[in-house]
Amino acid sequence: WGIDGHLIICRLAQLRLSETAAEAVSQLLPAYANNDLGSVCSWADRVKFRYHWSSPLHYIDTPDNVCTYEYNRDCKDEDGIQDRCVAGAINNYTTQLLSYGKANSASQYNLTEALLFLSHFIGDIHQPLHVGFTSDRGANTIDVRWYRRKEVLHHVWDNNIIETAEQRFYDSNVDELIDALQKNITTVWSKQAKAWEACSKTACPDVYASEGIKAACDWAYKGVKEGSVLQDNYFLSRRPVVNLRLAQGGVRLAATLNRIFR
Ligand code: ADE
Ligand code: ZN
Ligand code: ZN
Repeated sequence: WGIDGHLIICRLAQLRLSETAAEAVSQLLPAYANNDLGSVCSWADRVKFRYHWSSPLHYIDTPDNVCTYEYNRDCKDEDGIQDRCVAGAINNYTTQLLSYGKANSASQYNLTEALLFLSHFIGDIHQPLHVGFTSDRGANTIDVRWYRRKEVLHHVWDNNIIETAEQRFYDSNVDELIDALQKNITTVWSKQAKAWEACSKTACPDVYASEGIKAACDWAYKGVKEGSVLQDNYFLSRRPVVNLRLAQGGVRLAATLNRIFR
């Protein structure tokens, strides 16, 4: 996701934290965040160049046109190093954060960075094209037009669908989109939201990745080829999928943090 996608997911999550988790998050956030998780939710994108090792941790490449995800087959970087993908990163930072409040944890890990990475990566794993095909790099090599602009399909899903929705339906105000999603989560989606939280371990990234590649095949890639012009029919039919993934990302980030900081 771009800045707004991550902001939306982290704001939705922070509204659902337990007292204990809210206290831990508040302790771990850097002072400049002003206790707003949303304000630092894109930090992991800004440090990709400084922490070069972190750039493969934002996504998963799966075999072309297979439309399934398997941890052992797919969670590796381009050099084939196992566990170096967004699902492996979520597991790793979850484990690190479980040491919060235990003796010696401070000397071993930077738990502030672990919190910012985990919050960002639970967002990214919900962007359908962050669990995409290998040969097109999650649709980063598919050129399309978004209305009259040249874009790549990956960017349409990271940014353009959200931006166009904000402009057309929310007066270009991201806070109003967040409010609308928040209302839906507590009303029409409240039963489903309970099911989204379910996870028998502390973190369940494999569930989210499997849903992601399915959504990528059924909605993101579907009907699109190099040079396609995407406009109202694509925007209006895919907007519900983006809204669902943003809501699921927020609910699941909160549920994961609530399980970590019990
Ligand atoms: N680079 C390679 N594959 C990618 C993906 N699925 N998403 C983002 N960046 C990528
Ligand atoms: Zn992206
Ligand atoms: Zn990212």
